[in-house]
Amino acid sequence: MDTHNGPDNTTGSPMQQSGDDHLLHRLFDMQQQFRHIPKQAMIELAGELELPVSQVESVVDFYSFFHRSPRGTYDLMFSNCTSCGDPSMMHSLCERLNVTPGKTRADGLVSIDSTSCIGMCDQGPALLVNGRTLIQLTALRLEQIAAQIEAGTPVEDWPVEWFRVHDHVRKNGLLLGTAFETGAGLRAAIEKGPEAMLDEIARSGLRGRGGAGFGTGMKWKFCREARGEAHYVVCNADEGEPGTFKDRILLNSHAHAVFEGMTICGYIIGAQKGYLYLRGEYRYLLDDLKAVLKRRIKSKLLGEKVLGLPDFSFDIEIIIGAGAYICGEESALIESMEQKRGVPRVRPPFPVTKGYLGQPTVVNNVETLAAAAHIAVHGSAWFNTHGSDKSDGTKILSVSGDCATPGVYEYPFGVSIQRILDDCGAEDVQAVQVGGPSGTLIGPDEFERKLGFEDLATGGSFMIYGKDSDLLAVLVNFAHFFAHETCGFCTPCRVGTTLLKNGLDKIASGHGTQNDVDEMYRMATLVKRRSHCGLGQTAPNPILDALQRFPGLFEERLVHTDFEPNFDLDASLEEARQITHREDAEAHLS
Ligand SMILES: Cc1cc2nc3c(=O)[nH]c(=O)nc-3n(C[C@H](O)[C@H](O)[C@H](O)COP(=O)(O)O)c2cc1C
Ligand code: SF4
Repeated sequence: MDTHNGPDNTTGSPMQQSGDDHLLHRLFDMQQQFRHIPKQAMIELAGELELPVSQVESVVDFYSFFHRSPRGTYDLMFSNCTSCGDPSMMHSLCERLNVTPGKTRADGLVSIDSTSCIGMCDQGPALLVNGRTLIQLTALRLEQIAAQIEAGTPVEDWPVEWFRVHDHVRKNGLLLGTAFETGAGLRAAIEKGPEAMLDEIARSGLRGRGGAGFGTGMKWKFCREARGEAHYVVCNADEGEPGTFKDRILLNSHAHAVFEGMTICGYIIGAQKGYLYLRGEYRYLLDDLKAVLKRRIKSKLLGEKVLGLPDFSFDIEIIIGAGAYICGEESALIESMEQKRGVPRVRPPFPVTKGYLGQPTVVNNVETLAAAAHIAVHGSAWFNTHGSDKSDGTKILSVSGDCATPGVYEYPFGVSIQRILDDCGAEDVQAVQVGGPSGTLIGPDEFERKLGFEDLATGGSFMIYGKDSDLLAVLVNFAHFFAHETCGFCTPCRVGTTLLKNGLDKIASGHGTQNDVDEMYRMATLVKRRSHCGLGQTAPNPILDALQRFPGLFEERLVHTDFEPNFDLDASLEEARQITHREDAEAHLS
């Protein structure tokens, strides 16, 4: 990801742009049509949307799915997540099709690259081809893909079963296992009135499921009380944390509950408009989601005078991201909605008082909103009689990695890690990454710890590493992820994530010394303390956890010198030696 100056949230009020005319949507169409975004097209688009050309350009440079130079007619991006990726597959297809990773083949037919986790961790390895999700890759499937590409078959005509994503719900709980009549939550809210329903949500103890765990009732109350010309509800469906895919299942099979939660929130806070910000990797869900919205309009659950209420109109629109993990951070997400780079804002002010277009905005995770709809139907006691002391209700987990049955599991908070491992058939487990790379890495002596805000908090990712996993390689993978996904706004994170990545690369390649480990510890601590937003504040977690819990991982790879330079000066002169045809001693640095 390119780096730029800081967020532009102090300048004039951004225009609301919706539907097909949202900058991200127009750029996606262009990328599909031209295989890149030509400069002239950016200028024309800027004129049409009345945006500065510099803004359009900076957006193109920021998001991973947009490119200034042409990609192949077939543009393949393999997930590089430890759960839904497999680098060997990417390399074998590159070899088969004679493509250099990250480059477009000279004839322009195909380009192959890697991308951050695409949320298919229960059915990987997986890739995106021209933005469409293709799952369960095998050597045979790669050969079939190569044949389709060589035959010039349009992606739309490839066998549909290659793209069929499954839900894999392994364990139902309160939310996944309880159905309610569409509209029942909204009717209950209207019957009770906004204040009483707000009290009900607060009483339920529901806390945000996106990671931070802020009280949902409190968030809605602050927003309801905030003054503004308009209020907004935003559903955060960016789900970019590697190993997380539970929102994908909710959107696929429980979209009514999610939209109902958004509408109830709108009713309570006094909003007329809601947005679902869907990660670009889940574009395949778009048509179905739009169909659900249409049905809800038809049933008067959305639109003018919802359920006949003269003073409540509410619409929901979908905005689709373009490959940037940071856009899951709520203020970066709002910037992205406003057609800008996804750079986190300086907070306060928080979105509840100054969010989308500078107006009071609630941003909630998909699961939080679905839970709110259920609470409206079934009541707060139905919810908070489950869970632990400080964590009411249940949590939906995305379980992946070394286990027999990866998929989605819903548990009351307070469940032990060991119980989850038993249920998914995980044996000889070396470590679990709870909450994804930004979460907590634990080993077997901590498997009796419990899921919950008071012990192990998680946004839902639960990645299992068996005894044969190379844990250091996992740490390297995470470090590359953060170095790639940093938005570049603040120096500790922009520079620090790259230094951490370089340090780990050096140790993993067998060139590290104790000095490098000490340096990495110092750097990790600094990045954690000094970064502007949650990305930088959590990026060092895997390294710090591993240093504390798995020190042997590093020790066994160290060389026995106190200092080993990061840079091989003699090797760097190789190209010059080749150009000058010299191999004599003086052309070398001894
Ligand atoms: C780097 C980063 C990525 C995030 N990604 C997501 C995400 O994909 N989905 C999400 O709901 N929250 C994500 N969050 C948390 C949001 O900023 C925010 O707290 C959340 O959407 C609030 O909703 P909740 O109260 O329902 O949890 C992310 C935070 C950070 C720092
Ligand atoms: S911590 Fe990282 S992602 Fe967050 S604002 Fe700073 S550079 Fe951007």
